[in-house]
Amino acid sequence: MIKSSVYDCSIIELPINHRDKGNLTVAENVKNIPFNVRRVYYLYDVPAGESRGGHAHMELKQLIIAASGSFNVVLFDGKVRRTVTLNRPFNGLLVVPGIWRELDDFSSGSVCLVLASCKYDENDYIREFGDFLKWKQCSITQNAPPTFTKGNYCV
Ligand code: TYD
Repeated sequence: MIKSSVYDCSIIELPINHRDKGNLTVAENVKNIPFNVRRVYYLYDVPAGESRGGHAHMELKQLIIAASGSFNVVLFDGKVRRTVTLNRPFNGLLVVPGIWRELDDFSSGSVCLVLASCKYDENDYIREFGDFLKWKQCSITQNAPPTFTKGNYCV
């Protein structure tokens, strides 16, 4: 997991139930999401020009969906940067652990829906970009996963 790359982050197309009176999309554990959802949260009323994210997770997997409107997700794995535009409520971006992400360019009224594999745990966050780079560097130079704790980098 620690050697994850931006290319491990993929778009999952969720099924659409089309009707004249509107569409319905279902996201179901295991069936079309490659993890069990244990938490759901959503971002909304993001002011123009604001960005969110700016962190990585050590264990958490997420499916990020533009439930309304559009925004960009910028992914970085320590080497490669990749920008994914989300603008369809039936497309989810799978973000695996060990990826730095920033969300920006939110359209007015957009809603960023996030399905997450774990309960909220601040200890799972890497919030400093320098910490992230050190952590990824560790993963490249060591066979065994480093035990990363804040302020305690592997050397
Ligand atoms: P954070 O994940 O930093 O938001 P973003 O990356 O979108 O900017 O979370 C913002 C705040 O909300 C932070 O203080 C932690 C809190 N929070 C929870 O309490 N529970 C949650 O499930 C999440 C995602 C955040």
